[in-house]
Amino acid sequence: MKTAAVLTLVLAAACGGSDEPACDPSGPMCKTLSSYRLFDDIATQTPAEGVVPYALNTPLFSDYTTKDRFVSLPPGESLAWRDDPDSFVAPTGTIVIKTFSYLADRRMPTGDRRLLETRLLIKQDTGWTGASYVYDEGKPSDAILAIAGAPLSASWIHDDGAARTNAYVVPNKNQCKECHNEHDDKLDLLGPKARHLNTGTQLQQLVDLGVVTGAPAAATWPKAVAAYDPGSGTVEQRARAWLDINCAFCHNDRGAARTSGLFLGYQETDALSLGICKPPVAAGRGSGGRAFGIVPGQPDASIMMFRIESTEPDIRMPELGRNLVDAEGASLVRAWIAQLPGSCP
Ligand code: HEC
Ligand code: HEC
Repeated sequence: MKTAAVLTLVLAAACGGSDEPACDPSGPMCKTLSSYRLFDDIATQTPAEGVVPYALNTPLFSDYTTKDRFVSLPPGESLAWRDDPDSFVAPTGTIVIKTFSYLADRRMPTGDRRLLETRLLIKQDTGWTGASYVYDEGKPSDAILAIAGAPLSASWIHDDGAARTNAYVVPNKNQCKECHNEHDDKLDLLGPKARHLNTGTQLQQLVDLGVVTGAPAAATWPKAVAAYDPGSGTVEQRARAWLDINCAFCHNDRGAARTSGLFLGYQETDALSLGICKPPVAAGRGSGGRAFGIVPGQPDASIMMFRIESTEPDIRMPELGRNLVDAEGASLVRAWIAQLPGSCP
Protein backbone atom coordinates (compact mmCIF):
# COMPACT_ATOMS: atom_id res chain seq x y z
CA MET A 1 0.00 0.00 0.00
CA LYS A 2 2.69 2.42 1.07
CA THR A 3 4.84 1.72 -1.97
CA ALA A 4 1.90 2.25 -4.29
CA ALA A 5 1.14 5.65 -2.76
CA VAL A 6 4.75 6.77 -3.13
CA LEU A 7 4.82 5.54 -6.71
CA THR A 8 1.69 7.52 -7.58
CA LEU A 9 3.26 10.66 -6.17
CA VAL A 10 6.46 10.14 -8.12
CA LEU A 11 4.49 9.52 -11.32
CA ALA A 12 2.38 12.63 -10.82
CA ALA A 13 5.51 14.71 -10.29
CA ALA A 14 7.17 13.22 -13.35
CA CYS A 15 4.15 14.06 -15.46
CA GLY A 16 4.32 17.80 -14.99
CA GLY A 17 2.23 17.87 -11.84
CA SER A 18 -1.22 17.67 -13.44
CA ASP A 19 -3.66 17.41 -10.52
CA GLU A 20 -6.02 15.15 -12.42
CA PRO A 21 -5.72 11.40 -11.76
CA ALA A 22 -3.98 9.41 -14.49
CA CYS A 23 -6.35 7.79 -16.96
CA ASP A 24 -6.70 4.01 -16.79
CA PRO A 25 -6.46 2.94 -20.45
CA SER A 26 -8.32 -0.31 -19.78
CA GLY A 27 -11.49 1.63 -18.85
CA PRO A 28 -13.74 3.99 -20.78
CA MET A 29 -12.14 6.94 -22.63
CA CYS A 30 -11.13 9.69 -20.17
CA LYS A 31 -12.25 13.33 -20.40
CA THR A 32 -8.92 15.01 -21.08
CA LEU A 33 -5.92 14.20 -23.25
CA SER A 34 -3.54 15.28 -20.47
CA SER A 35 -4.81 12.53 -18.15
CA TYR A 36 -3.16 9.91 -20.38
CA ARG A 37 0.27 11.40 -19.59
CA LEU A 38 1.40 10.86 -23.17
CA PHE A 39 3.10 14.24 -23.60
CA ASP A 40 5.62 16.26 -21.62
CA ASP A 41 4.16 19.30 -23.40
CA ILE A 42 0.94 18.99 -25.36
CA ALA A 43 1.19 22.48 -26.93
CA THR A 44 4.46 21.58 -28.66
CA GLN A 45 3.54 17.87 -29.00
CA THR A 46 6.65 16.88 -27.08
CA PRO A 47 6.11 13.20 -26.21
CA ALA A 48 6.69 11.78 -22.75
CA GLU A 49 9.56 9.35 -22.25
CA GLY A 50 8.88 6.06 -24.00
CA VAL A 51 6.29 7.54 -26.39
CA VAL A 52 7.84 7.00 -29.83
CA PRO A 53 7.13 9.28 -32.82
CA TYR A 54 6.74 7.75 -36.27
CA ALA A 55 5.95 8.96 -39.78
CA LEU A 56 4.43 7.33 -42.86
CA ASN A 57 5.99 7.55 -46.31
CA THR A 58 2.58 8.70 -47.61
CA PRO A 59 -0.07 10.07 -45.22
CA LEU A 60 -3.83 9.91 -45.64
CA PHE A 61 -4.94 13.25 -47.14
CA SER A 62 -6.94 15.12 -44.49
CA ASP A 63 -7.74 18.56 -45.89
CA TYR A 64 -4.12 19.78 -45.84
CA THR A 65 -3.68 19.25 -42.12
CA THR A 66 -0.27 18.38 -40.72
CA LYS A 67 -0.08 15.27 -38.54
CA ASP A 68 2.08 14.09 -35.66
CA ARG A 69 2.00 10.38 -34.85
CA PHE A 70 3.24 8.46 -31.82
CA VAL A 71 3.00 5.03 -30.28
CA SER A 72 3.04 4.23 -26.56
CA LEU A 73 3.67 0.59 -25.63
CA PRO A 74 3.39 -1.01 -22.19
CA PRO A 75 6.88 -1.52 -20.66
CA GLY A 76 8.77 -4.38 -22.29
CA GLU A 77 6.15 -4.94 -24.99
CA SER A 78 6.35 -4.46 -28.75
CA LEU A 79 4.45 -4.36 -32.03
CA ALA A 80 4.67 -7.82 -33.59
CA TRP A 81 5.33 -8.09 -37.32
CA ARG A 82 2.52 -9.77 -39.23
CA ASP A 83 2.32 -10.39 -42.97
CA ASP A 84 -1.37 -11.16 -43.23
CA PRO A 85 -3.24 -8.99 -42.50
CA ASP A 86 -0.32 -6.67 -42.79
CA SER A 87 -0.81 -4.25 -39.87
CA PHE A 88 1.37 -5.03 -36.84
CA VAL A 89 -0.18 -6.72 -33.80
CA ALA A 90 -0.24 -4.50 -30.73
CA PRO A 91 -0.35 -5.77 -27.12
CA THR A 92 -3.13 -4.76 -24.69
CA GLY A 93 -2.35 -1.33 -23.28
CA THR A 94 -0.90 0.09 -26.51
CA ILE A 95 -1.97 3.65 -27.32
CA VAL A 96 -1.47 5.07 -30.81
CA ILE A 97 -1.75 8.83 -31.09
CA LYS A 98 -2.37 11.14 -34.06
CA THR A 99 -2.61 14.92 -33.78
CA PHE A 100 -4.05 17.09 -36.57
CA SER A 101 -3.08 20.74 -36.98
CA TYR A 102 -3.04 23.54 -39.52
CA LEU A 103 0.23 25.32 -40.14
CA ALA A 104 -0.35 29.09 -40.19
CA ASP A 105 1.65 29.14 -43.44
CA ARG A 106 2.31 25.86 -45.24
CA ARG A 107 5.49 27.32 -46.70
CA MET A 108 6.92 27.40 -43.16
CA PRO A 109 6.67 23.82 -41.81
CA THR A 110 8.32 24.70 -38.48
CA GLY A 111 6.32 27.90 -37.97
CA ASP A 112 3.16 28.53 -35.94
CA ARG A 113 0.33 26.07 -36.13
CA ARG A 114 -3.14 25.58 -34.73
CA LEU A 115 -3.85 22.26 -33.04
CA LEU A 116 -7.25 20.84 -34.05
CA GLU A 117 -7.62 17.39 -32.51
CA THR A 118 -5.67 14.43 -31.17
CA ARG A 119 -7.06 10.98 -31.93
CA LEU A 120 -6.28 7.99 -29.76
CA LEU A 121 -6.64 4.31 -30.48
CA ILE A 122 -6.27 2.15 -27.38
CA LYS A 123 -5.82 -1.62 -27.42
CA GLN A 124 -7.93 -3.20 -24.71
CA ASP A 125 -8.46 -6.90 -23.95
CA THR A 126 -11.54 -6.92 -26.19
CA GLY A 127 -9.92 -5.06 -29.11
CA TRP A 128 -9.30 -1.46 -30.18
CA THR A 129 -11.32 1.48 -28.95
CA GLY A 130 -10.83 5.09 -29.99
CA ALA A 131 -11.89 8.69 -29.65
CA SER A 132 -10.88 12.19 -30.57
CA TYR A 133 -9.82 15.01 -28.24
CA VAL A 134 -10.50 18.51 -29.51
CA TYR A 135 -8.53 21.71 -28.81
CA ASP A 136 -10.17 25.05 -28.16
CA GLU A 137 -8.62 27.63 -30.47
CA GLY A 138 -5.87 29.47 -28.59
CA LYS A 139 -5.70 26.80 -25.84
CA PRO A 140 -3.19 24.24 -27.04
CA SER A 141 -2.26 23.00 -23.56
CA ASP A 142 -4.98 20.33 -23.36
CA ALA A 143 -7.76 18.78 -25.45
CA ILE A 144 -11.20 17.54 -24.38
CA LEU A 145 -13.01 14.33 -25.37
CA ALA A 146 -15.11 15.11 -28.46
CA ILE A 147 -18.80 14.31 -28.20
CA ALA A 148 -20.69 15.73 -31.20
CA GLY A 149 -18.52 16.88 -34.06
CA ALA A 150 -19.07 20.59 -34.66
CA PRO A 151 -16.83 21.77 -37.51
CA LEU A 152 -13.80 23.91 -36.61
CA SER A 153 -13.40 26.93 -38.85
CA ALA A 154 -9.77 27.17 -39.87
CA SER A 155 -7.68 29.35 -42.17
CA TRP A 156 -4.10 29.16 -43.39
CA ILE A 157 -1.73 30.34 -46.10
CA HIS A 158 -1.44 27.63 -48.75
CA ASP A 159 1.66 26.35 -50.57
CA ASP A 160 1.09 28.91 -53.34
CA GLY A 161 0.81 31.84 -50.88
CA ALA A 162 -2.99 32.14 -51.24
CA ALA A 163 -5.28 32.33 -48.17
CA ARG A 164 -7.40 29.19 -47.72
CA THR A 165 -10.20 28.24 -45.30
CA ASN A 166 -11.93 25.02 -44.29
CA ALA A 167 -14.76 23.98 -41.99
CA TYR A 168 -12.68 21.14 -40.58
CA VAL A 169 -14.77 18.17 -39.42
CA VAL A 170 -13.81 16.09 -36.37
CA PRO A 171 -15.14 12.57 -36.94
CA ASN A 172 -17.44 10.98 -34.40
CA LYS A 173 -16.84 7.58 -32.81
CA ASN A 174 -18.94 5.70 -35.36
CA GLN A 175 -16.94 7.18 -38.21
CA CYS A 176 -13.70 5.83 -36.76
CA LYS A 177 -15.09 2.38 -37.54
CA GLU A 178 -16.09 3.25 -41.09
CA CYS A 179 -12.42 3.66 -41.92
CA HIS A 180 -10.54 1.63 -39.31
CA ASN A 181 -12.55 -1.59 -39.94
CA GLU A 182 -10.12 -2.50 -42.67
CA HIS A 183 -10.82 -6.23 -42.56
CA ASP A 184 -13.87 -8.22 -41.43
CA ASP A 185 -15.54 -5.27 -39.66
CA LYS A 186 -12.88 -5.18 -36.91
CA LEU A 187 -11.20 -1.99 -35.71
CA ASP A 188 -7.46 -2.10 -36.47
CA LEU A 189 -4.39 0.05 -37.05
CA LEU A 190 -4.06 1.42 -40.58
CA GLY A 191 -0.72 3.21 -40.73
CA PRO A 192 1.63 0.92 -38.77
CA LYS A 193 2.49 -1.53 -41.54
CA ALA A 194 5.94 -2.38 -42.81
CA ARG A 195 5.49 -0.79 -46.24
CA HIS A 196 4.25 2.53 -44.84
CA LEU A 197 6.92 2.77 -42.13
CA ASN A 198 9.76 1.65 -44.41
CA THR A 199 11.04 5.14 -45.20
CA GLY A 200 14.69 6.12 -44.80
CA THR A 201 16.07 4.27 -41.76
CA GLN A 202 12.85 4.55 -39.73
CA LEU A 203 11.76 0.90 -39.78
CA GLN A 204 15.29 -0.29 -38.98
CA GLN A 205 15.35 2.13 -36.04
CA LEU A 206 12.00 0.87 -34.75
CA VAL A 207 13.36 -2.69 -34.95
CA ASP A 208 16.61 -1.65 -33.21
CA LEU A 209 14.63 0.08 -30.45
CA GLY A 210 12.57 -3.08 -29.93
CA VAL A 211 9.35 -1.25 -30.85
CA VAL A 212 8.81 -3.70 -33.73
CA THR A 213 9.73 -7.37 -33.16
CA GLY A 214 9.59 -10.49 -35.30
CA ALA A 215 10.76 -8.72 -38.46
CA PRO A 216 12.14 -10.96 -41.23
CA ALA A 217 15.46 -10.12 -42.94
CA ALA A 218 15.60 -6.42 -43.83
CA ALA A 219 16.19 -7.16 -47.51
CA THR A 220 12.68 -8.66 -47.72
CA TRP A 221 10.78 -5.75 -46.15
CA PRO A 222 8.03 -4.36 -48.35
CA LYS A 223 8.16 -0.67 -49.18
CA ALA A 224 5.62 1.72 -50.66
CA VAL A 225 7.11 4.83 -52.25
CA ALA A 226 6.39 8.40 -51.07
CA ALA A 227 3.53 9.55 -53.29
CA TYR A 228 4.27 13.28 -53.02
CA ASP A 229 8.01 12.93 -53.68
CA PRO A 230 8.73 12.80 -57.43
CA GLY A 231 12.19 11.40 -56.67
CA SER A 232 10.89 8.36 -54.81
CA GLY A 233 9.43 6.31 -57.66
CA THR A 234 7.68 6.18 -61.02
CA VAL A 235 4.35 7.94 -61.57
CA GLU A 236 2.66 4.54 -61.42
CA GLN A 237 4.32 3.56 -58.12
CA ARG A 238 3.50 6.95 -56.59
CA ALA A 239 -0.13 6.91 -57.76
CA ARG A 240 -0.51 3.37 -56.41
CA ALA A 241 1.01 4.43 -53.06
CA TRP A 242 -1.48 7.32 -52.89
CA LEU A 243 -4.45 5.01 -53.65
CA ASP A 244 -3.10 2.49 -51.13
CA ILE A 245 -3.16 4.84 -48.12
CA ASN A 246 -6.25 6.85 -49.15
CA CYS A 247 -8.52 4.11 -50.43
CA ALA A 248 -7.39 0.53 -49.72
CA PHE A 249 -8.57 0.40 -46.09
CA CYS A 250 -12.12 0.27 -47.55
CA HIS A 251 -11.30 -0.95 -51.05
CA ASN A 252 -10.00 -4.46 -50.30
CA ASP A 253 -11.69 -7.85 -50.50
CA ARG A 254 -12.51 -7.86 -46.75
CA GLY A 255 -13.20 -4.13 -46.37
CA ALA A 256 -16.20 -1.80 -46.26
CA ALA A 257 -16.19 -1.40 -50.06
CA ARG A 258 -15.70 -5.12 -50.80
CA THR A 259 -18.95 -5.35 -52.79
CA SER A 260 -17.66 -2.68 -55.21
CA GLY A 261 -15.06 -5.17 -56.48
CA LEU A 262 -12.61 -2.23 -56.67
CA PHE A 263 -9.45 -3.21 -54.77
CA LEU A 264 -6.82 -0.52 -54.48
CA GLY A 265 -4.11 -2.03 -52.24
CA TYR A 266 -0.46 -1.61 -53.20
CA GLN A 267 -0.09 -5.34 -53.87
CA GLU A 268 -3.10 -5.57 -56.21
CA THR A 269 -2.03 -6.73 -59.67
CA ASP A 270 -5.38 -7.52 -61.32
CA ALA A 271 -6.23 -4.75 -63.81
CA LEU A 272 -10.00 -5.18 -63.47
CA SER A 273 -9.83 -5.06 -59.64
CA LEU A 274 -7.87 -1.80 -59.98
CA GLY A 275 -10.79 -0.42 -61.98
CA ILE A 276 -9.29 -0.65 -65.47
CA CYS A 277 -12.25 -1.04 -67.87
CA LYS A 278 -14.38 -2.05 -64.88
CA PRO A 279 -18.06 -1.08 -65.14
CA PRO A 280 -19.39 0.39 -61.88
CA VAL A 281 -21.48 -1.80 -59.56
CA ALA A 282 -24.13 0.95 -59.48
CA ALA A 283 -24.46 3.31 -62.44
CA GLY A 284 -26.00 6.13 -60.39
CA ARG A 285 -24.88 9.66 -59.61
CA GLY A 286 -21.61 8.24 -58.32
CA SER A 287 -20.50 7.27 -61.80
CA GLY A 288 -20.94 10.74 -63.32
CA GLY A 289 -22.32 9.07 -66.45
CA ARG A 290 -18.91 7.51 -67.14
CA ALA A 291 -18.71 3.87 -68.21
CA PHE A 292 -15.58 2.55 -66.44
CA GLY A 293 -13.57 3.02 -63.25
CA ILE A 294 -10.46 3.75 -65.29
CA VAL A 295 -10.28 4.28 -69.05
CA PRO A 296 -6.60 3.95 -70.04
CA GLY A 297 -5.25 7.24 -71.39
CA GLN A 298 -8.46 9.10 -70.49
CA PRO A 299 -8.65 10.48 -66.95
CA ASP A 300 -11.68 12.62 -67.85
CA ALA A 301 -13.62 9.52 -68.90
CA SER A 302 -12.68 7.63 -65.69
CA ILE A 303 -15.11 7.34 -62.75
CA MET A 304 -12.12 7.25 -60.43
CA MET A 305 -11.15 10.85 -61.30
CA PHE A 306 -14.78 11.98 -61.08
CA ARG A 307 -14.95 10.75 -57.49
CA ILE A 308 -11.46 11.85 -56.40
CA GLU A 309 -12.09 15.38 -57.72
CA SER A 310 -15.62 15.75 -56.27
CA THR A 311 -16.38 17.38 -52.93
CA GLU A 312 -20.04 16.32 -52.90
CA PRO A 313 -20.77 14.01 -49.94
CA ASP A 314 -22.49 11.24 -51.94
CA ILE A 315 -19.94 11.28 -54.76
CA ARG A 316 -16.54 12.09 -53.33
CA MET A 317 -14.01 9.39 -52.44
CA PRO A 318 -13.02 8.85 -49.71
CA GLU A 319 -16.62 9.45 -48.72
CA LEU A 320 -15.63 10.79 -45.30
CA GLY A 321 -12.61 12.46 -43.76
CA ARG A 322 -12.31 15.29 -46.25
CA ASN A 323 -14.07 18.42 -47.58
CA LEU A 324 -11.33 19.48 -49.96
CA VAL A 325 -9.73 17.90 -53.02
CA ASP A 326 -6.14 16.72 -52.73
CA ALA A 327 -4.96 18.62 -55.80
CA GLU A 328 -1.51 17.01 -55.81
CA GLY A 329 -2.87 13.49 -55.27
CA ALA A 330 -5.52 13.98 -57.95
CA SER A 331 -3.00 15.20 -60.51
CA LEU A 332 -0.78 12.22 -59.74
CA VAL A 333 -3.60 9.72 -60.40
CA ARG A 334 -4.48 11.71 -63.55
CA ALA A 335 -0.91 11.43 -64.78
CA TRP A 336 -0.91 7.67 -64.13
CA ILE A 337 -4.22 7.08 -65.95
CA ALA A 338 -3.06 9.32 -68.83
CA GLN A 339 -0.03 7.11 -69.42
CA LEU A 340 -1.83 3.74 -69.20
CA PRO A 341 -1.79 1.95 -72.57
CA GLY A 342 -4.76 0.31 -74.28
CA SER A 343 -8.47 1.08 -74.46
CA CYS A 344 -11.79 -0.30 -73.16
CA PRO A 345 -14.23 -2.30 -75.31
C1 HEC B 1 -11.49 8.85 -43.52
C2 HEC B 1 -11.11 7.65 -42.84
C3 HEC B 1 -10.73 7.75 -41.38
C4 HEC B 1 -11.52 8.15 -40.33
C5 HEC B 1 -12.95 8.66 -40.37
C6 HEC B 1 -10.72 7.97 -39.15
N1 HEC B 1 -9.47 7.52 -39.47
FE1 HEC B 1 -7.93 7.22 -38.19
N2 HEC B 1 -6.69 6.86 -39.78
C7 HEC B 1 -7.10 6.70 -41.09
C8 HEC B 1 -5.96 6.32 -41.90
C9 HEC B 1 -5.98 5.99 -43.37
C10 HEC B 1 -4.85 6.29 -41.04
C11 HEC B 1 -3.39 5.96 -41.41
C12 HEC B 1 -2.82 7.06 -42.26
C13 HEC B 1 -2.30 8.25 -41.54
O1 HEC B 1 -1.96 8.16 -40.33
O2 HEC B 1 -2.17 9.31 -42.19
C14 HEC B 1 -5.35 6.62 -39.71
C15 HEC B 1 -4.57 6.68 -38.56
C16 HEC B 1 -5.06 6.81 -37.28
C17 HEC B 1 -4.27 6.71 -36.08
C18 HEC B 1 -2.81 6.32 -36.03
C19 HEC B 1 -2.75 4.78 -35.98
C20 HEC B 1 -3.18 4.11 -37.27
O3 HEC B 1 -4.14 3.31 -37.26
O4 HEC B 1 -2.57 4.38 -38.31
C21 HEC B 1 -5.11 6.90 -35.02
C22 HEC B 1 -4.75 6.87 -33.56
C23 HEC B 1 -6.44 7.13 -35.57
N3 HEC B 1 -6.37 7.08 -36.95
C24 HEC B 1 -7.57 7.31 -34.79
C25 HEC B 1 -8.83 7.55 -35.32
C26 HEC B 1 -10.01 7.80 -34.50
C27 HEC B 1 -10.04 7.71 -32.99
C28 HEC B 1 -11.03 8.08 -35.36
C29 HEC B 1 -12.44 8.48 -35.02
C30 HEC B 1 -12.59 9.56 -34.08
C31 HEC B 1 -10.47 8.00 -36.71
N4 HEC B 1 -9.16 7.66 -36.65
C32 HEC B 1 -11.19 8.23 -37.86
C33 HEC B 1 -8.38 6.87 -41.56
C34 HEC B 1 -9.43 7.36 -40.83
C1 HEC C 1 -14.66 4.86 -46.06
C2 HEC C 1 -14.61 3.81 -47.05
C3 HEC C 1 -14.15 4.20 -48.44
C4 HEC C 1 -12.98 4.83 -48.80
C5 HEC C 1 -11.87 5.29 -47.90
C6 HEC C 1 -12.98 4.93 -50.23
N1 HEC C 1 -14.10 4.39 -50.73
FE1 HEC C 1 -14.61 4.25 -52.69
N2 HEC C 1 -16.31 3.29 -52.22
C7 HEC C 1 -16.74 3.01 -50.93
C8 HEC C 1 -18.04 2.34 -51.00
C9 HEC C 1 -18.84 1.86 -49.79
C10 HEC C 1 -18.38 2.22 -52.38
C11 HEC C 1 -19.65 1.62 -53.00
C12 HEC C 1 -20.78 2.62 -53.00
C13 HEC C 1 -20.56 3.80 -53.89
O1 HEC C 1 -20.28 3.64 -55.09
O2 HEC C 1 -20.62 4.94 -53.39
C14 HEC C 1 -17.28 2.86 -53.10
C15 HEC C 1 -17.23 2.96 -54.47
C16 HEC C 1 -16.20 3.53 -55.21
C17 HEC C 1 -16.14 3.60 -56.66
C18 HEC C 1 -17.17 2.99 -57.62
C19 HEC C 1 -16.71 1.56 -57.77
C20 HEC C 1 -17.47 0.67 -58.70
O3 HEC C 1 -16.79 0.09 -59.57
O4 HEC C 1 -18.70 0.53 -58.56
C21 HEC C 1 -14.98 4.23 -56.99
C22 HEC C 1 -14.45 4.53 -58.40
C23 HEC C 1 -14.30 4.54 -55.75
N3 HEC C 1 -15.06 4.10 -54.69
C24 HEC C 1 -13.07 5.13 -55.68
C25 HEC C 1 -12.40 5.37 -54.49
C26 HEC C 1 -11.10 5.96 -54.43
C27 HEC C 1 -10.26 6.35 -55.65
C28 HEC C 1 -10.80 6.09 -53.12
C29 HEC C 1 -9.59 6.73 -52.51
C30 HEC C 1 -9.21 8.02 -53.05
C31 HEC C 1 -11.90 5.55 -52.35
N4 HEC C 1 -12.86 5.12 -53.22
C32 HEC C 1 -11.94 5.50 -50.96
C33 HEC C 1 -16.07 3.28 -49.77
C34 HEC C 1 -14.87 3.93 -49.68
